[in-house]
Amino acid sequence: MKTLKTQVAIIGAGPSGLLLGQLLHNAGIDTLILERQPPDYVLGRIRAGVLEQGMVELLRQAGVGQRMDAEGLVHTGFELALDGRRVHIDLQALTGGKTVTIYGQTEVTRDLMAARRDAGAQTIYEAGNVIPHGMKTAEPFVTFDKDGETYRLDCDYIAGCDGFHGVARQSIPADCLKVFERVYPFGWLGILADTPPVHEELVYARHERGFALCSMRSPTRTRYYLQVPAQDKVEDWSDQRFWDELKSRLPTALAASLVTGPSIEKSIAPLRSFVVEPMQYGRMFLVGDAAHIVPPTGAKGLNLAASDVSTLFNILLKVYREGRMDLLEKYSEVCLRRVWKAERFSWWMTSMLHRFDEHDAFSQRISESELAYFLDSEAGRKTIAENYVGLPYEAIE
Ligand code: APR
Ligand code: PHB
Repeated sequence: MKTLKTQVAIIGAGPSGLLLGQLLHNAGIDTLILERQPPDYVLGRIRAGVLEQGMVELLRQAGVGQRMDAEGLVHTGFELALDGRRVHIDLQALTGGKTVTIYGQTEVTRDLMAARRDAGAQTIYEAGNVIPHGMKTAEPFVTFDKDGETYRLDCDYIAGCDGFHGVARQSIPADCLKVFERVYPFGWLGILADTPPVHEELVYARHERGFALCSMRSPTRTRYYLQVPAQDKVEDWSDQRFWDELKSRLPTALAASLVTGPSIEKSIAPLRSFVVEPMQYGRMFLVGDAAHIVPPTGAKGLNLAASDVSTLFNILLKVYREGRMDLLEKYSEVCLRRVWKAERFSWWMTSMLHRFDEHDAFSQRISESELAYFLDSEAGRKTIAENYVGLPYEAIE
């Protein structure tokens, strides 16, 4: 078995692993990333697109903000539509000046990959059978296969940045973790199309036929979503059926101005809320989707990954520079406070905006009334806005 050595072994080259790797590399801390897939596969996944201001600042801090600053669309508000009525949430006015930036996760990943390559930091793609070991000892290591050889990577710490289906969380004994989960009885069917956005801001629409979202990637590329039953298949949805259904769920003026076109990507994602506690096991730390999943309705998944990365980076910096080993045990509790607030907001947005077939008539009216209350009250709109732009990152001490 060949032996390699690094300071922080990172499993997974999604946004969590790449951003952590970049921040640590810039601080002179050596990392090696092990990724199961080839780079093109990682870049082929179409995911989220709304960056909180905290994440925008973290990307700039990591030195990868140039293209985002040039091409990202700064949005100062978004719209909520309820059976035809349109309510503007003025993020900037309601939060004392905060905004969000529309810039696809795919682009964030592309920028981070390029920066890592330029920095000469190592990523091993198509690493098979990645397994973390010795997490409860002072000498953890990771084994993996590459090109028919088995390797052992010795390290000080392991960052499990390997997403919901990764190996890091699954390597922790089940009796050391508590799992909190809710699976929703519907999914989101998303399409990407080279058409101009129907509106200059995002529109989240609640409708008796089900939820719809109008999002975008650029002034010429749109991303639209429809709530669909969990068992639906992409093949059930021709482009024509998608556009017809979207129009039926949007306020009349928007439906009339919707420009349709051929889809360039179409996929269905299930909706799930999931948190594991604690987010660490000895010298291994779970980061991003490896530790928690939110339904996409609040646009929080990618942003939570960024706040976990920020927390772990700040702790490791103090560990390596000041010998502050005592901070390591704080990782999980610091992250979880923010994670649970974002879980709550994502669950709430999902509950308010989707159609729940199992709701009785009373629950249906209560939910309509709850949303109407929040939208008709300045305090309510403020609550939505401050969660949407992102709650502050917590200091590590
Ligand atoms: N070994 C090595 N790599 C693995 C393994 C494994 N056993 N299992 C998974 N991976 C890789 C995946 O191929 C993927 O590239 O880990 C990476 C995890 O990336 P993501 O799933 O994107 O998770 P994360 O980086 O935490 O990103 C945060 O926020 O908006 C949400 O879901 C969205 O992906 C997004 C996430
Ligand atoms: C997206 O553009 O993909 C997107 C935007 C907002 C959301 C979810 C997804 O809440």
